[in-house]
Amino acid sequence: MASNFIILAAGKGSRMNSDLPKVLHKLAGVPLLAHAMNSASLGGAKKSVVVTGHGGAAVAKAALGIDAETLIANQDEQLGTAHAVLQAKDALGEMEGDCIVLYGDTPFISPETLEEMSKARDSHDVLVLGFETNDPGRYGRLITNGDKLDRIVEAKDASPEELAVTLCNSGVICANTSVLFDLLSEVKDDNAANEYYLTDIIGIATSKGLSCGVVHCDIAETLGINTRAELAAAEADFQAKARIAAMENGVSLTAPETVYFAYDTVIGRDTTIEPNVFFGPGVTIENDVEIKANCHFEGCHISRGSVVGPFARLRPGAELAEDVRVGNFVEIKNADLAEGAKVNHLSYVGDATVGKAANIGAGTITCNYDGVMKHRTEIGARAFIGSNTSLVAPVSIGIEAMTASGSVITQNVPIGALALSRAKQVNKEDLATRLMDKLRATKARKEKEKKDN
Ligand code: UD1
Ligand code: MG
Repeated sequence: MASNFIILAAGKGSRMNSDLPKVLHKLAGVPLLAHAMNSASLGGAKKSVVVTGHGGAAVAKAALGIDAETLIANQDEQLGTAHAVLQAKDALGEMEGDCIVLYGDTPFISPETLEEMSKARDSHDVLVLGFETNDPGRYGRLITNGDKLDRIVEAKDASPEELAVTLCNSGVICANTSVLFDLLSEVKDDNAANEYYLTDIIGIATSKGLSCGVVHCDIAETLGINTRAELAAAEADFQAKARIAAMENGVSLTAPETVYFAYDTVIGRDTTIEPNVFFGPGVTIENDVEIKANCHFEGCHISRGSVVGPFARLRPGAELAEDVRVGNFVEIKNADLAEGAKVNHLSYVGDATVGKAANIGAGTITCNYDGVMKHRTEIGARAFIGSNTSLVAPVSIGIEAMTASGSVITQNVPIGALALSRAKQVNKEDLATRLMDKLRATKARKEKEKKDN
């Protein structure tokens, strides 16, 4: 059954040494918070509440941008993880079903693990996600008795024997929602940090005769981000896995270590990606596409049989139909390119529609911005745009029409017409030869004068 989720994101993250709240630092193209929220939604969230605090307004705005249905609860003062979870009570409203607590700075919790925790609720009232490590450091220690979890001790409060325990608390906890809030209401702050510890609910539950258990996962999954170095290490970890996954899915990467994916990049089978390609969020590439070296993509779609790059930039809203060619030093933004269209060299195509098999010559620019507003350019099927054409939008080029090279097109071009909009050429007989002779003579005279002085 679907659970409620509470995502804690009120902490300061002081070790990031940043004005930006920690959970808004990016991993795989999106804020850390988006990863935790994504885990919740893949885990089938019924309701999810993000608990904000430090940088609350910015975090709330980002959370709603990621998922407009997300509920927000603010924790004015950061009095500890138990206090943070309690802040979500009003936002959740009814206390039905299970509730899972996640941290906004822990991006890799998988839906399978969350599923396992929900299933384990058949045998225990409260579940904690734990992991083994040889270097337990500041983590809370899970004190078990057979398959039962008795209590959690924070490192600051632990005895030497407890500190020697290597089974640690990831922070993820699952329980029936109303049981969770009943337990939380009994948590006190009589500990080394004078904080309300979420981890105390385990001891309280055990003392009430409730059963607590541990679901195990790998430490890599519970990796929390506290510093920029940890963020970079997590990024490297994500990229390494994404590259392997892409290759397993049938994508050829010539130099995998130079290709950077976003959390949601989708690439089809038998697509080839040459070195140094960067994917921002929202990119889908179909099968049998060729991406040549040094491209940058964001929010775009590339259909089967297309060839893109080298050195191409596709920005949000770039939609390439089948067998499109986008070549070197070409930027496409918010534009639909129909089947077989070609933009091969040095062009900017923005806010445009390009018809089937249209050919856009080198150096073509859609002048889409008048300084205040954006305007569209429509190019018909099989149109031929001459090199170095400026298309001053709003403007449309008819089916099978042409523009002469170097034209500045400010008026619509009818179907099948040729538009010429440039100064007429004038040839001056012999003038080049005479001019050069004169310049050379001047230079020779100046050099002689210099020598004589
Ligand atoms: C917590 C656990 C510890 C566990 C570790 C795993 C407690 C008491 N301890 O310790 O057992 O091994 O995580 O990383 O729960 N937060 C708030 N409001 C607060 C305090 C924290 O929203 O008042 C948020 C933080 O932003 C963070 C998360 O809760 O996302 C965890 O807080 P943090 O201070 O990092 O807890 P740890 O000391 O690491
Ligand atoms: Mg922490």
